[in-house]
Amino acid sequence: MGGAKNAALPMMAAALLIPGRSIIHNVPHLRDVVTMQRVLAQLGARGGYPNHSFEVDATELTQVEAPWDLVRTMRASIYVLGPLLARMGRARVSLPGGCAWGPRPVDLHLRGMELLGAKISLDHGYIVAEAPPGGLRGTHIGFDISSVGATGNVLMAAVLARGTTVIENASREPEIVTLAEFLNAAGASIHGHGTNKITVEGVRELHPVEFDNIPDRIEAGTFIAAAAITKGRVNLVGARPDHLGVVFDHFREMGVDLTVEAQSIQVIAPERLQATRIVTAPYPGFPTDLQAAFLALLSVAEGSGSISETIYPDRFTHVPELVRMGADIVLSDHVATVRGMSKLSGAHVTSTDLRASSALVLAGLVAEGETLVHRVYHIDRGYERIEERLRGVGADIERIDIPGP
Ligand code: UD1
Repeated sequence: MGGAKNAALPMMAAALLIPGRSIIHNVPHLRDVVTMQRVLAQLGARGGYPNHSFEVDATELTQVEAPWDLVRTMRASIYVLGPLLARMGRARVSLPGGCAWGPRPVDLHLRGMELLGAKISLDHGYIVAEAPPGGLRGTHIGFDISSVGATGNVLMAAVLARGTTVIENASREPEIVTLAEFLNAAGASIHGHGTNKITVEGVRELHPVEFDNIPDRIEAGTFIAAAAITKGRVNLVGARPDHLGVVFDHFREMGVDLTVEAQSIQVIAPERLQATRIVTAPYPGFPTDLQAAFLALLSVAEGSGSISETIYPDRFTHVPELVRMGADIVLSDHVATVRGMSKLSGAHVTSTDLRASSALVLAGLVAEGETLVHRVYHIDRGYERIEERLRGVGADIERIDIPGP
């Protein structure tokens, strides 16, 4: 499996806190990673990543502005806010816009920075943040909602703050645990990561670090789904089963045989998948990032299943496209109810975002006839060379350039 995108992005931003040259191994080659690399370069931290090892030199930062043209292509650019405030005392970061599945606010990020003593204002679409004289101060932060991004951002800001910061209702996602371990390896003093209460003792400075990223649990889930939907058998090497607890429970409930071996996970799909009922939730709950893939599975499972989306209630733009392929899905109050069909039929479909693309590709693998997924470039934000790797396990899939009108 490739390295986790959602762990790599905050760690890359965290490198801004570290004077010197840091290395992160197992960073996937993805569009979002390239965007983050460009954001860092803009701030004076030049880096590159031959062979999936991201090397970056943040000895001297020259800018504090993350511009609109980069931030608009990737919301996770907001991760530079905390490190810039902590190291440079100020930051100017374009306010990320909404996305295809909702407004996705950043109020919790900003509230966290304010509690650390920063003054925040909005100016022509930019977040302008200024640390108090003497730098950020440790504080107590209780989030109303468990947010991966806000927890990560506050964590990065707090490591160099004076005194102790306590984050309650912190995100427990493996990507946040990895970020905390990265920061600790660089000399930070963070405790409680992996629980919902994280404590940070501020330190004066961090030092360069060399660190291994974790494998991507969403990519692992997607490959297991590809085997499951095609009645296939695959051996997944390098995934972390301990990051996939509830996801494995649902695969097993659907009839997928999963055997965890020392270095790999053996996946054997049943003749027909069985329906299941899923509720997305913050980790260790079922990840919203696999909701679309499981909707594709439910579309061909035996019986009626459902997915209730509690994190991003409008994240269902793939539903009308799956319906065009013959799926029977009814949306009501952020719950998708699916009656499994014995088959889907290939069609022209359009993807609207990263995870929607993966659902359409999965559906296309079993649909009768040919499926053409338009705007499939979204998939490159989260999966490296997906078509080559699926072809490697027997899929009939290719990427084609369609000339414009
Ligand atoms: C991250 C992941 C994304 C995943 C999501 C939920 C990255 C780069 N992206 O996104 O793939 O789908 O976690 O697991 O890691 N919220 C607020 N105010 C805020 C921040 C968030 O109200 O300031 C809300 C959101 O609207 C959402 C919930 O909190 O309902 C969780 O969002 P959050 O965990 O912050 O998602 P991201 O970090 O943006």
